[in-house]
Amino acid sequence: MQPKNVRFLYRPAFRLKAIPIIQPPRKVLRHSQHCRSNIWKKTFHSTAMAKSKFEYVRLFEADDRCLPNTWIVVRVDGKGFHKFSTEHEYEKPNDIKALSLMNRAATSVMEEFKDVCLAYGQSDEYSFVFRKETQAYSRRSAKLSTNVCSLFTSAFVYYWNEYFPTSKPRYPPVFDGRTVLYPSNQNIRDYLSWRQADCHINNLYNTTFWTLILKGGLTPAEAESKLKGTLSGDKNEILFSQFGINYNTEPEMLRKGTVLVRRKVPVALPNGGTREKSQIVQEHVDIIGDEFWNTNSHLLTVT
Ligand code: GTP
Ligand code: MG
Repeated sequence: MQPKNVRFLYRPAFRLKAIPIIQPPRKVLRHSQHCRSNIWKKTFHSTAMAKSKFEYVRLFEADDRCLPNTWIVVRVDGKGFHKFSTEHEYEKPNDIKALSLMNRAATSVMEEFKDVCLAYGQSDEYSFVFRKETQAYSRRSAKLSTNVCSLFTSAFVYYWNEYFPTSKPRYPPVFDGRTVLYPSNQNIRDYLSWRQADCHINNLYNTTFWTLILKGGLTPAEAESKLKGTLSGDKNEILFSQFGINYNTEPEMLRKGTVLVRRKVPVALPNGGTREKSQIVQEHVDIIGDEFWNTNSHLLTVT
């Protein structure tokens, strides 16, 4: 049956739901027959006029809200940082100042977005993990990735001088950003393991590659061909036997990347006492094994 106060725009031959146009209640309609400037017209027509006839274009905006109850990861990655790192004379294979600047920019993101429970960074990338139940920006994918990416990039430039006091960026650095969803705790752990394994593989390769060049006097082409087909054990052996470098004693930030989490830390009070305060701290720990997750089980618990 046709509902009251509803007129159908069209009745398709096949029985699809027709689009209803809501009409004014009958009482108002009757009144409107005698009064040209009736309340209905005034209220609805004038509002429609105020919104302009172009308002409909909003309907072209896609609804990109992320699925509820899923982990949201926003990952930012430097655009063309192979060139950027060369142009800005980053130390090879790792520049502690540059990596520390990345950590500082990521800390700014976590300071702003309280629903980011953990961030992980290595090389020119950072991943931000939002709580499963976050309602930040109504979980809108583009809003999340663009805001995180924009803040990260501006913080990277804002704090540049603290880490590179004698130079300024030669051109504006660019980071891309994407939002990815992970439904289960295992998925989010595997995602973070993937990024940390990537850090390990790349860093071991780069450390051996640049040691062969800088200390071994090889050309980049020679170093590349020497490393072709080698496994991680072979690279460890080259470093140790030829250069006396024990890869396992290299700084943990370089081998494991950086995890940012919030921890309660004691802060000094003016009266001499201390009180606990939540702070964003940097840790360079293994997040592939179970130990980190057993110690930090709250991170994967929905609150
Ligand atoms: P796109 O991300 O595809 O735009 O390319 P990219 O050039 O940024 O390469 P990618 O993200 O795959 O890798 C990051 C690159 O940044 C590395 O290959 C290095 O060349 C450079 N990089 C990152 N961190 C350091 C560092 O501490 N020292 C040096 N020397 N280079 C670094
Ligand atoms: Mg990059």
